[in-house]
Amino acid sequence: MSVLDPTWTALLYLVAAVFFILALRGLSSPRTARRGNLVGALGALVAVVTVFLSARLENIPWILGAIAVGSAVAAPVARRVKMTQMPQLVALFNGVGGGAAALVALLELTHAGDPWVRLAIVFTLLVGAVSFSGSSVTFAKLQELMTTRPVVFPGLPVVMAAVLLAAVAAAVVVILTGSPVPAVLLLLLGLVAGVLLVLPVGGADVPIVISLLNAFTGLAVAASGVVLGNVLLVVAGTLVGASGTILTRAMAAAMGRSVAGILFGAFRGGSTAGSTAVSERPVRSSSPEDVAVLLGYAQRVIIVPGYGLAVAQGQHTAAELADALEARGIDVDFAIHPVAGRMPGHMNVLLAEANVPYESLKEMGEINPEFKTADVALVVGANDVVNPAAKTSSGSPIYGMPILEVAEARQVVFLKRSMRPGFAGIENDLLYQPQTSLLFGDAKDSLAQVLGAVKAL
Ligand code: TAP
Repeated sequence: MSVLDPTWTALLYLVAAVFFILALRGLSSPRTARRGNLVGALGALVAVVTVFLSARLENIPWILGAIAVGSAVAAPVARRVKMTQMPQLVALFNGVGGGAAALVALLELTHAGDPWVRLAIVFTLLVGAVSFSGSSVTFAKLQELMTTRPVVFPGLPVVMAAVLLAAVAAAVVVILTGSPVPAVLLLLLGLVAGVLLVLPVGGADVPIVISLLNAFTGLAVAASGVVLGNVLLVVAGTLVGASGTILTRAMAAAMGRSVAGILFGAFRGGSTAGSTAVSERPVRSSSPEDVAVLLGYAQRVIIVPGYGLAVAQGQHTAAELADALEARGIDVDFAIHPVAGRMPGHMNVLLAEANVPYESLKEMGEINPEFKTADVALVVGANDVVNPAAKTSSGSPIYGMPILEVAEARQVVFLKRSMRPGFAGIENDLLYQPQTSLLFGDAKDSLAQVLGAVKAL
């Protein structure tokens, strides 16, 4: 029995849609992101309650049971996840969304007489399945359950073309006949296509593909809204599709990539692999006291935070070090690369947590010309985002990505634990340059020791 009439249902859907739009607006700045997230969750709650009050639902205990199981799994996972593992969590949740849309479409086929609705069904099936399996592979890559490097094999483009052709043929049969067997085949082909699409993407390009698959899920959900005749699903799916597309393009631009280049680079046969070999060349290692002298007698210091700072949870100590240097009259800024860390805005969130003022965070375009005026660039747990191979080595997986120009500073100090490379798995020549010194150790410990030594100067 439905409690709400169609007018009230439409009004509540409108309220939910407005909440979703306000959520996106809130999420566009670190200052308002938390509130944006809550507003989005509230919109989802309004939407779900409205469905319960307006639709003639059968199997309510099953539905409630499924919601309980989903919540019991997702809530603790989301609470416990480390911030550095957020992208893989997003990939997983996103993939599940695409898979759910595909399953709904498959079930709806049994009572879809209209070929236009069947067209929406085949679209949802294919795109939802691609999103599910592709997201699962990106999850495995980021969780390091498999190699993060591009996986290619001879004949990959031919296999992909055959899978897509077979998928188109199955889709045409489904639209014309409404038969479930080719629909299941289409679902399976979509799963294979998703795996083949993501396997050749490696290294630093994986996060961009996560964002792209997020957009795919949005489109699949929007199409499932057409299948179910539910306007809110169309609106919410379109918002996800559009925002995912904008984020994908922004991330690709920040990496100096084209989205097509990321997806089809490996298919075209161009290698996106780099060398993981760590060279035996000598490096100059430093003590905390040496680094403290360099910093304490500088006029201008630029701190470059990266993934390692997040792993070490050294943001508070980094902020304290910046304060201690500023107290000595030294000009200190933090240089923020758009893909430093493991998620968009990672460094902004991390440093905001340590109350580093926004004015001290300088985006790449603004800070790059200033490195040549810096006495010291202190690179804390960053590697790929300062690797000159992005400019000089055309075979490198990060070739073309704009980098922070730390090599321009008079002295460069790296805080890292070993000579291991960063996410992209390639060596960084800057570690071996004469102006570079390395302080080995966990970033938080090293920062604390340097801070102690600065205070003792
Ligand atoms: P990375 O290139 O991954 O380098 C991290 C550095 O931190 C490594 O040199 C590592 O060396 C060091 N490190 C790790 N744990 C540490 C610890 N506890 N203490 C001290 N150092 C530690 O990081 P990045 O420069 O921030 O670049 C980010 C990379 O991730 C890019 O390739 C980017 O494309 C990719 N990515 C970005 C995102 C987004 S959207 N931000 C998402 C996924 C992937 P040791 O092991 O020797 O300590």
